[in-house]
Amino acid sequence: MSRCVRGASPGSRPALLLLAVLHCARLVACGGGSLGAALVCARAPGLTERQRAMCRQSPAAIAAIGDGLRMAYAECRAQLAGRRWNCSGVGDGHHFGHVMPLANPEAAFTYAITSAGVTHALSAACARGDLPACSCTTNRRRGSSVSEQWEWGGCAVGAFGARMARRFLDARELERDARALMNLHNNRVGRKVVKELVRRECKCHGVSGSCAVRTCWRALAPFPAAAGALRSRYLRAKHVAPHPPRPPRPARASASTAQRNQPHHTHLVLVRRQKSNPGVVRVPRKSDLVYLEPSPSYCERDDAAGSLGTHARLCNRTSRGDDGCESLCCGRGYSTVRRVLESKCRCRFHWCCRVSCDTCVARTETHVCN
Ligand SMILES: *[C@@H]1O[C@H](CO)[C@@H](O)[C@H](O)[C@H]1NC(C)=O
Ligand SMILES: *[C@@H]1O[C@H](CO)[C@@H](O)[C@H](O)[C@H]1NC(C)=O
Repeated sequence: MSRCVRGASPGSRPALLLLAVLHCARLVACGGGSLGAALVCARAPGLTERQRAMCRQSPAAIAAIGDGLRMAYAECRAQLAGRRWNCSGVGDGHHFGHVMPLANPEAAFTYAITSAGVTHALSAACARGDLPACSCTTNRRRGSSVSEQWEWGGCAVGAFGARMARRFLDARELERDARALMNLHNNRVGRKVVKELVRRECKCHGVSGSCAVRTCWRALAPFPAAAGALRSRYLRAKHVAPHPPRPPRPARASASTAQRNQPHHTHLVLVRRQKSNPGVVRVPRKSDLVYLEPSPSYCERDDAAGSLGTHARLCNRTSRGDDGCESLCCGRGYSTVRRVLESKCRCRFHWCCRVSCDTCVARTETHVCN
């Protein structure tokens, strides 16, 4: 209850307020009922009309979505810690969700991991029985062979979470442009990754572990597994372009009206053609993350590109990877900060009643990008 809020406290950021509000949505009694779902949903900033409607219909699902977003943003930072683009700033803006100015691989990853987080959290809420709308039918099935006799319990967790996540997140993509196609594609990759990592888990029943009957259920993999899978897809994301390509701007106004009424882009195709078959247009795989424009270097600050720059970042002098000073500092070099830390150590107790300690000295070296 202590985390319940009735309105924005001075200086609080809207996105954080939203998370607090989502937390309240779970506790229906929060604020003595005066802070009902309708009010929560009306106040949450950055929701589209359809999202607001969903919010009013199922406040419990909205609470799970809030959990999913929080989890996704934390995991985004964890997966990319030490890289030039480390997810900082994602999810702490002034809107619901995240604003990625460019249609680059980082945006692709952000959309996918968010979609995966929401799918995962909704699925977990469904499995716990927190969502009234989620039907966990206990359909019993028998395995085909004798050794595979098992009873089926629990829910089709992944499928439910994915459906609900799609309804909620895809509702943001109102435009029918290439960027919307890209976001929808990457949202789907995120949902798919969570569903693909659902595993069957079983427990044996029977006399002294004979396993005469097994109960099986579908269990979600821990979220970091899904996030890790998305990270490797981010590192080999595919460059795509709308197809058919956007027509050149018509010279006369009469032509433009006719063209505006037609959908510009129907799907995305890979930019890099196969060498052996340059005439063939290929679509990206459903498991690939896709982007429309390349990443900036992220070396210098550039607000328009969503880049914070790497000045003053901590780097690893011995690493040859992305967190190494070479790569992270973009060739500008680094400064070494030496610190001497003194602390009490090897303390002894003398009867009675005195404690004596030595002073230990620890030297630390950190490296900071110029
Ligand atoms: C992430 O990058 C930003 C800007 O480059 C930096 O301020 C921040 O400390 C970094 N976070 C971590 C955890 O390294
Ligand atoms: C720095 O990188 C090396 C080599 O990759 C690694 O063994 C070491 O643990 C890293 N140090 C820190 C402080 O992360």
